[in-house]
Amino acid sequence: MLKVGLIGFGFMGHMHFENYLRLAAEGVPIELTAICDIRIEELKNEKVVGNISTDQSSYDLSSFRLYSDMEDMLKNEQLDIIDIALPTYLHADVSCDLLERGYHVFCEKPMALNSVEGTRMVETAKRTGKNLMIGQCLRFWPAYEYLKNCVEDERYGKVTSGYFFRGGATPNGWYREKEKSGGSMLDMHIHDTDMIHWLFGKPEKVSSLGRTVVPGSGYDIVSTNYIYEDNKVLNAQADWTLQGDYGFSMTYRVNFKRGNIVFENDQVKVNPNHASGFIAELSSDRGYYREISYFVHSILNNTLISVATPESTLGSLEIIEAEICSADNDGEIVILSDKTITAST
Ligand SMILES: NC(=O)c1ccc[n+]([C@@H]2O[C@H](COP(=O)([O-])OP(=O)(O)OC[C@H]3O[C@@H](n4cnc5c(N)ncnc54)[C@H](O)[C@@H]3O)[C@@H](O)[C@H]2O)c1
Repeated sequence: MLKVGLIGFGFMGHMHFENYLRLAAEGVPIELTAICDIRIEELKNEKVVGNISTDQSSYDLSSFRLYSDMEDMLKNEQLDIIDIALPTYLHADVSCDLLERGYHVFCEKPMALNSVEGTRMVETAKRTGKNLMIGQCLRFWPAYEYLKNCVEDERYGKVTSGYFFRGGATPNGWYREKEKSGGSMLDMHIHDTDMIHWLFGKPEKVSSLGRTVVPGSGYDIVSTNYIYEDNKVLNAQADWTLQGDYGFSMTYRVNFKRGNIVFENDQVKVNPNHASGFIAELSSDRGYYREISYFVHSILNNTLISVATPESTLGSLEIIEAEICSADNDGEIVILSDKTITAST
């Protein structure tokens, strides 16, 4: 039986919590025993708010041991896995510390605030031999997995163009401080950057425009062109200043030589050039459940993590850094260096 401790019981902590409980209920030999959050007392009964809603807004936590201090939790619990759902600026230090102490670590995306921190995480995981996986959840999201399969098996030929978007309202608190969240580029847009990296490998060059709306938050609106040798036309945009009743959306439209695929309103519509269009039949499970299931099963079965390796998520971080550099220079083309790591397939 693998024992899990969860650190950070905010929006994503609740999401992870639900998924560990679901896995246990499904018979996977895993048990979430402890939860740690500096605000655990006030969070116990608080309603959680995020882009994609958790199944419940409050929980009965009486069967879990609750801590407000990580050291206390580690001292009192025998844990195999620590799940980190902390604000981004804590990811690197806490992950490295826990890997050094012999735990397997699942850490929320983005991996870290920058590639120096990300490199330290990769090196620490390698040296300690412990599993580290970053929750780049789109790699496990059925609508994006479907796209990945189409790109790989070329059932509609090669990709000629693609557009990816996500957006919603400006988040509050630490998210608005660039030094803590990295702004919308690192926090929100990285999902699509990581997807493009996963689908097509590293671009040769990027060119980005960014706009700051909320002072101190970094770029709140971003548009990036990803430049590849074969000249496919690829763009991703993010905007976390869509206020009012907008809500949240994530979409893509990818064109292939023999058809196009559009993800909108939670549906993937496939439009072959010379046949009727159809809605792809996909699992209704979200990437949040599937990524944790994958991580847990990799540990239980002692199999290699290959879908979201630390090296590969570090590569996505390096692309984001190039995008920020381009946006800082009014869209100047930035060439990605040769040291960069390409995504695993
Ligand atoms: N994969 C996704 O789609 C997705 C969606 C939202 C957020 N995220 C990521 O998840 C991470 C967490 O985001 P969130 O929205 O849950 O944030 P949040 O602010 O809702 O939750 C973070 C929690 O960590 C706690 N915390 C802070 N410092 C602590 C410490 N030293 N020890 C213990 N607890 C501490 C806070 O009290 C808070 O409850 C971020 O990195 C964010 O980018 C990912």
